[in-house]
Amino acid sequence: MKLWNTPITSLLANASLTVRFAVNSFICIGIMTSALWFMVSNYLINQIVEREWQTTAQIVRTDVRTFLEDYDFKAQDRKSVGHKFVALLEHMRLSPDIVRFKVYNPKGIVIWSDDKRLVGKSFIDNPQLQRALRGQVVADMSSLEKHENIFEPKSLSGAVEVYVPIYSESGRELLGVFETYRRPDSIFHAVREARAIVLFGAVGGGLLLYVSLFAIVRQAARKIDEQQENLLKIQSELVASQRMAAVGEMAAAVAHGIGNPLSSIRAAAQVAMLDTAAGDGSAKNQKMTENLQDIVQQVDRMQRRMQALLNFAKPLEPRPVPIEINSLVCDVVETCRARFSDAQVTTKLDLEANLPSVTSDVNHLEQALMGLITNAVEATPRGGIVTVRTRSCSPIGDGKIVEVSIEDTGEGIPIENRQRVFEPFFTTKPHGTGIGLSLAKKFLERNGATIVISDCSSAGTKIAFTLPRDAGATPTAKLQ
Ligand SMILES: Nc1ncnc2c1ncn2[C@@H]1O[C@H](COP(=O)(O)OP(=O)(O)OP(=O)(O)O)[C@@H](O)[C@H]1O
Ligand SMILES: [Mg+2]
Repeated sequence: MKLWNTPITSLLANASLTVRFAVNSFICIGIMTSALWFMVSNYLINQIVEREWQTTAQIVRTDVRTFLEDYDFKAQDRKSVGHKFVALLEHMRLSPDIVRFKVYNPKGIVIWSDDKRLVGKSFIDNPQLQRALRGQVVADMSSLEKHENIFEPKSLSGAVEVYVPIYSESGRELLGVFETYRRPDSIFHAVREARAIVLFGAVGGGLLLYVSLFAIVRQAARKIDEQQENLLKIQSELVASQRMAAVGEMAAAVAHGIGNPLSSIRAAAQVAMLDTAAGDGSAKNQKMTENLQDIVQQVDRMQRRMQALLNFAKPLEPRPVPIEINSLVCDVVETCRARFSDAQVTTKLDLEANLPSVTSDVNHLEQALMGLITNAVEATPRGGIVTVRTRSCSPIGDGKIVEVSIEDTGEGIPIENRQRVFEPFFTTKPHGTGIGLSLAKKFLERNGATIVISDCSSAGTKIAFTLPRDAGATPTAKLQ
């Protein structure tokens, strides 16, 4: 039987630990509960029934002692003692459970019955009777199927035959066996009650066990998940820090190898510019000055980039001070003014008045803002708009109180790239380094801020960050 290849087992194999435990333990506890119920109820029922038969035997023996003598079992003339058995039957019938009886002698022959057709017949082949003749109290619930009961009226169906051996007064001699017919209603009632109580107990216990085990396993599964999540986080942090260290080494090497020659180039270009400035002012001279200015500009750009790389790699120690965010935004936008006009992009400032001051490292915040605004300008086509917005937000949970967002009308960042753009060196620009956003994120996070990319009303990009409240009492910092 290929039980292990059924769809249910393969479904279970792929299920979570909690689901597998829930199903397996349900089956096991179900089997255990049923077995327990079966065993305990059987044991109890046997005990109840055994006690009932012993009680019946006790009653029968007491009544027999009251109404009969030893001689009544042995008398050859059965008619002379018959009235005593009739009197005994009348007495026994006063009890609603005992309906009638037959009396056997020690050879298994009926010596008295209210049904006279049975008197004198031998039933020695009846195994219950045989056991009773050996001195045991025997009960048989399937009495009506036996052929000595062929004349029993239908009303007795369901009665239990109880065979009670009767001994002489001295207790040594077996006088005969009383076969009593007992209605089993009270026994059945007791049995049903016992079964129900045991069932209730077993099911209650099983359920309690199931629920408590399930709760423990669910808690354990949650803990495992949490630990796995932490492990993954630690792993990715480790990878990021290793990457950072490598970038740091590389940046230092590049700065060392290129920094000095670059400074020399810049210095030479500046000296040459002095010469051209003192020249004749001809067109050629002017063209040369422009070229030299270009060289100086490009060298400055390269040095800035190198500085950015070094900044990115070196550990950041923020020096938080309370900041007026609106004035910082205005200053940064002003610095970028030339870029906006070069790119023919309009700036829109939507700054909420009376914003609470926030706490952050002013230089970190400035660089982050600069990186985000530069990206927005670079992404926006001519005639587009970059909107910088500041808003206060309710200080829920992590205590962030001011949101700054930069929204552009460019092409936007595809959903699948929204995580990757924060990775160092991820760029889609031919001359980009892919450092801007990762550096902005690093600066912001080191200052307790959170940065997110979201959809915006235009097709472009909206990048927003929220800053924590001003915790210090130092005077508000101005941009240097
Ligand atoms: N406002 C934006 N609109 C669309 N794409 C953006 C925007 N900002 C960032 N990106 C995407 O994220 C990438 C990474 O940006 P990031 O600033 O880190 O590097 P970069 O701009 O490519 O290079 P640089 O190091 O010069 O800034 C960009 O190449 C671009 O694909
Ligand atoms: Mg950039």
